[in-house]
Amino acid sequence: MTSKKKPKVYITRKLPDAVETRMRELFDAELNIDDSPRSAAELAEAVKSADVLVPTVTDRIDATILKETGPNLKLIANFGNGVDNIDVAAAVARGITITNTPGVLTEDTADMTMALILAVPRRLVEGVAALEQEKFKGWSPNWMLGHRLQGKRLGIVGMGRIGQAVARRARAFGLQIHYHNRKPVPAPIEQELEATYWDSLDQMLARMDIVSVNCPHTPATFHLLSARRLKLMKPTAYIVNTARGEVIDENTLALMLEKGQLSGAGLDVFENEPAVNPKLLRARNVVLLPHMGSATIEGRIDMGEKVIINIRSFVDGHQPPDRVIPAML
Ligand code: 8YV
Repeated sequence: MTSKKKPKVYITRKLPDAVETRMRELFDAELNIDDSPRSAAELAEAVKSADVLVPTVTDRIDATILKETGPNLKLIANFGNGVDNIDVAAAVARGITITNTPGVLTEDTADMTMALILAVPRRLVEGVAALEQEKFKGWSPNWMLGHRLQGKRLGIVGMGRIGQAVARRARAFGLQIHYHNRKPVPAPIEQELEATYWDSLDQMLARMDIVSVNCPHTPATFHLLSARRLKLMKPTAYIVNTARGEVIDENTLALMLEKGQLSGAGLDVFENEPAVNPKLLRARNVVLLPHMGSATIEGRIDMGEKVIINIRSFVDGHQPPDRVIPAML
């Protein structure tokens, strides 16, 4: 009996053990046991002979790397939802299929967004720091006052799966839901969320108490929250970003926070990760997290399973379930 040759799958980072074991069972899988990020030269070498590449947000699969692809590379199965690490148009032009891992990190990312929406106006991290620095000298009526969430307006930029999951949580905290999206969500969802649609992002920003960024980073959303737009926001407003740093003009945001032109920010993502703007690191009114919105063990295993399903269905000659096409971006 002849067995079908296993596809050669190059995985750029260390994945959960259960995912790696299954990948070794199914594929001729090259793992990254010590999790050291692969250099551009290593990636360029890998794509010469691999059948499938499994990159993550930390690997820049740009046109230069894609030029090195050998004849076998027909699938890039991204371990991640966002595909802004990949030059999708250049890959598709070379006949390479791209897949991602949507759906399985929605709830975790929405939880982390809600955590930041709570943490910033209620000064959670400042409170912890005050205790640790032994500044707590006993309760006082005017100490550590933040702002109430109940009744405030939350403006969600990008009402996809994650934006909607954030809206559901926020409603339970008494926030009024507003959103900007390329188009309104279906009426039953809008009604369920009691959400108000703004086709003008400018007009929405000027009226919100909290703005949450939940859209993907694409050429169309790069610096969507530009200096001009950030300046439309109320100085009492807060901004939360668990999507991609590139959607906000980070330098302007940092300057505005420094000058008190915005009340605070909760940021899980940064424009030049892993670098963080030093002004943000110094700011008192921010909560900064190291890109951990989807960081649950359950989520990472689910992501791995999605990658495996995408590879298997592609190799078996089917349309993979999570195919990304340039028109979606
Ligand atoms: C992932 C993310 O963990 O999936 C995404 O788009 O931003 C992260 O939460 C990361 O992309 C893995 O590649």
